[in-house]
Amino acid sequence: MAEVVLEKVSKIYENGFQAVTDLDLNIQDGEFLVLVGPSGCGKSTALRMIAGLEEISGGEMRIGEQVVNDVESKDRDIAMVFQNYALYPHMTVYDNIGFALKLAKIPKEDLDRRVREAAKILELDAQLNRKPGQLSGGQRQRVAMGRAIVRQPAAFLMDEPLSNLDAKLRVQMRAEIAKLQRELGVTTFYVTHDQVEAMTMGDRVAVIKDGVLQQVDTPQNLYDYPENIFVAAFIGSPSMNLYEATVHGTVLHLGSNRIELGEVPEKVAAHDGETLVVGIRPEDMDDAELSEADTTERTITTTASLVESLGSEIIVHFEIDARAVDAGDPDVLEELADEDVATAVARFNPRSRARSGERISAVLDIERLHFFNLETGLALR
Ligand SMILES: Nc1ncnc2c1ncn2[C@@H]1O[C@H](COP(=O)(O)OP(=O)(O)OP(=O)(O)O)[C@@H](O)[C@H]1O
Ligand SMILES: [Mg+2]
Repeated sequence: MAEVVLEKVSKIYENGFQAVTDLDLNIQDGEFLVLVGPSGCGKSTALRMIAGLEEISGGEMRIGEQVVNDVESKDRDIAMVFQNYALYPHMTVYDNIGFALKLAKIPKEDLDRRVREAAKILELDAQLNRKPGQLSGGQRQRVAMGRAIVRQPAAFLMDEPLSNLDAKLRVQMRAEIAKLQRELGVTTFYVTHDQVEAMTMGDRVAVIKDGVLQQVDTPQNLYDYPENIFVAAFIGSPSMNLYEATVHGTVLHLGSNRIELGEVPEKVAAHDGETLVVGIRPEDMDDAELSEADTTERTITTTASLVESLGSEIIVHFEIDARAVDAGDPDVLEELADEDVATAVARFNPRSRARSGERISAVLDIERLHFFNLETGLALR
């Protein structure tokens, strides 16, 4: 086992495209670190550089004590699991799992013990003589995991290993892989574009956009303290609502709405009267009708455009006469949306009687509002 360290690692492809820029990551010994970001942001490139499948254009990479920039993939002591797990179709599960050990000329008895141990952990004991074609998707995925774990590597590298599975199986395997990783204690670098997968599996989650690392933290900290509007919008579902707004004294001006904040954080007060960005998570709004307290000073009264009842909660869509902020690219914020009407999404308590097309009052949890600088997109905290 070992830690994996990336210091200012960059990747420029032959055509001149820079896929990863100055990536700093420290995957601690035994840690499960998830790299998450939208499609094309450089996740697989980063993983392939750690794997040694892609040359590093700049910076330094270490696995354990060893600088591996120029070490060949096969000498890096890592095991990979990919999206298309590429099992050998003509080989049994037993042979698939043991293949790397056989290549490494591990003594037969040793190989047998390790394959059976892995099969036991993965609950594949009964399938050892079957071929991949006779397995379910989840079982095939576990065989791919088996091939990685028999090698007892310094680190696991996994690139979207669950994306070929249906939704239900994905949720199940998510839990199984996380549990297995914890039992084995092997340093793991896991890549996905799915923020829910990232949040549920990772000890820490690294968010990347356009090849640039945005933030690395525990799932809860990412959710509670996003450092910029990209992370704020990317983590959480439905996404955080983001609007241009101003704070005057203790009052938030959000379109025509006036919200009494009570206390204003110092960093926000410093921008009194200036346009900034306010972020409101859907779960930080609720139906004012359900509140016994007087909430008039912190509600948005509007018409619900769509109400979706999920049983456990009610998703309410409504219009708000404020300017929306697109979290995708902080550089072009100013040019955005010339319309001064935006949509908002709230998650109401299931006891709410909000109906599509009818008036609603959404009360804000003013202690949980997020504020960002409009120009830089950085959190004001
Ligand atoms: N060999 C290559 N030459 C040039 N550009 C490449 C090459 N491979 C990938 N890219 C580009 O680098 C960027 C990052 O690719 P990468 O595969 O790392 O993205 P990703 O985050 O894994 O995306 P996805 O979630 O879709 O798998 C993309 O814009 C891609 O088009
Ligand atoms: Mg990829």
